[in-house]
Order: sequence, then C-alpha cells, then structure tokens
Amino acid sequence: MIEQHSSLSEAEIARISTRIDRPIVLVGLMGVGKSTVGRRLANLMRRKFVDADEAIEEAAQRSVSEIFEEFGESYFRDGERRVIARLIDEDWGVIATGGGAFVDPETRALILDRAIAVWIDCDVDTLVERTSRRDTRPLLKQGDPHEILTRLLEQRRPFYSQAQIRVESGKGPHLDTATTILERLDAWL
Ligand code: S3P
Repeated sequence: MIEQHSSLSEAEIARISTRIDRPIVLVGLMGVGKSTVGRRLANLMRRKFVDADEAIEEAAQRSVSEIFEEFGESYFRDGERRVIARLIDEDWGVIATGGGAFVDPETRALILDRAIAVWIDCDVDTLVERTSRRDTRPLLKQGDPHEILTRLLEQRRPFYSQAQIRVESGKGPHLDTATTILERLDAWL
C-alpha cells in the first residue's frame, strides 16, 4: 500500500519507479537511517527491501558484533562484499548497506557499476543521538561515539561523495527522506 503522507502522488511515484532499472543501494554512516528510509522507499516503490547486515548475519549465523569479535573486521568486509554482490544479482529493489561497505574499493566499484548509490548524509549530533539507542555497533564501543563518528565521517566523506545521489536526513520523518530520494532520482535519471 502506498503510504499516505508522501508529498508525491501515487502516479508520480509509479512513473519514477518504472524508470529505475537497477537496485538502489543506500550508503552512509551508522545511524543515518538507511534501514528505515530503505523500507519506506521500497514500500513507496512497491519493491522489495533488504538490509545487507541482516543478510550477512543470516549467512554467517552470527551477529555483526560476534563476527567482528571472533574473526575481525577484514573478514567481515570480505563477507559483506560477497553478500552485497549476491543481493545485487538477486535484483532487490532497495538495499541498505552497513556504514563501511561503500568504503571498501571493490564493494564500491560493484555498487557504482551495477546499482545506484544513494548517500544519506546527516549531522554528527543527530547520529550520536540515534546510535545511542542500540548497543549493537562494534565500532562505537571503542571510545566516545561523538569522536568516532566525527572521525569516520571525515575519513569516509571522500568515498560517500562518489555516490550518484546525495540526500540529507535531518531530524524529520524518514518518509520525507525517502520521498526526496525519489525526486532526486527522477532528476538524475
Ligand atoms: C559499520 C556499520 C554497521 C555494521 C558494522 C560496521 C561501519 O552498519 O555494518 O558495525 O563500518 O560503519 P550500520 O551502518 O547499519 O550501523
């Protein structure tokens, strides 16, 4: 069912959706809302949504934290690359990725070549607030979340900015971000 509050009409959403012939891959830092925005976007487009971190956990039969603890980050990145390649092959409509996926050169090349990358950008204060609600992110357990997120944004911005589309997500409803993504895609295609 099309959600009620999108500022785009059903006909406009349908028109834009039919122009999109590749998966939309959401990238950006932890806490920007990739999974929630992704679900809203897929719902609007009447396409299927998948969260790559959840697909990794299912494939590994372990949580992301457990994979980091037991095998380390580079093992996680290898698995992440394989899972994202599979999800793109399976032609999901919208794929949310973990915040580091698009930083990996091979994963980034794959996404840029075979999908449309959308960078969801957000100010660090909002990210700190959102990520404090859950304790599942191994990288944020290594020190002060504000410092870590500020440093990660600085390091990763050059990579995230290679995405074909960039949107800002503030404190407003995630549905607004999903709607903005559709408008930007329409203008870009
Ligand atoms: C990571 C982000 C996490 C998860 C892992 C590493 C990162 O995903 O993939 O903890 O490197 O930024 P979210 O962005 O969905 O939190």
